[in-house]
Amino acid sequence: MLGVIGGSGLYELDGLKVLEEKSLKTPFGEPSSSIILGEIEGRKIAFLARHGRDHAYPPHLVPYRANVWALREVGVDRILAVSAVGGINKLFSPGDFVIIDSFLDFTKQRKSTFYEGKFSVQVEGEDKVAELLNSKKVVHVDVSDPYCPQMRMLLMEILQEKGFRYHPAGVYACTEGPRFETPAEIKALEILGADVVGMTGYPEVVLARELTMCYASICVVANPAAGISAGRLTSDEVLELMGKKEAQIKEILLEFVRRLPEDKTCRCEEALEGAEV
Ligand code: HPA
Repeated sequence: MLGVIGGSGLYELDGLKVLEEKSLKTPFGEPSSSIILGEIEGRKIAFLARHGRDHAYPPHLVPYRANVWALREVGVDRILAVSAVGGINKLFSPGDFVIIDSFLDFTKQRKSTFYEGKFSVQVEGEDKVAELLNSKKVVHVDVSDPYCPQMRMLLMEILQEKGFRYHPAGVYACTEGPRFETPAEIKALEILGADVVGMTGYPEVVLARELTMCYASICVVANPAAGISAGRLTSDEVLELMGKKEAQIKEILLEFVRRLPEDKTCRCEEALEGAEV
């Protein structure tokens, strides 16, 4: 099943026929919101609001592990995340979509793995993930291709067909937040190869991979990053742009749900092969 994680400005999905709402507890705590299980044109999907439905969780305190674990628990094996980002690359303008293909991690205080060796949380179950946790293994997961190539390709096809302005690749720098960056930080990130900056894309992507789930992210450039255009950055500006893009985001999601093939052509599911020490 596909799971959608909605970021700033996307707290619910209309067009979704709601079948059930699940409030879960996980071995990694409570997720930021209940999970809405619903149906779009006969296909089941799960929806989770990353910041909570009332936006109570700031980026550095989002329970990323609980969120990804809870989605898996309800049967999600592919996650599509929607995120607002600041544009660093001068070719990326507010309103553009970016189908990111790599990340740079500048977060500071987040639990970014399920596998903590001798400190691993013990879980129920018999699958590979439970086996690795319960045997307290150290696991190094491969992220040579962190975002699911099959999901990215479908996003590109849809954006191309719809004629929305988009960039088929981009490097996402994740900062700790909750403050915005300084112009000096953005200059440094640009030199390091970042195209966009956000506060929530990491560790979500890696946690999904650790559970052998597919993960792709559709980023919406909400503002030029700090120092790129004159003036201050505000949450108002980000939310206003996301509001303007809401209809297009929902169109993309709907088409994505319609067209995502059941059969996987990617290797995301092989993430744990040869990963344990
Ligand atoms: N920086 C970090 N996160 C963001 C930004 C930004 O400029 N815009 C939207 N999310």
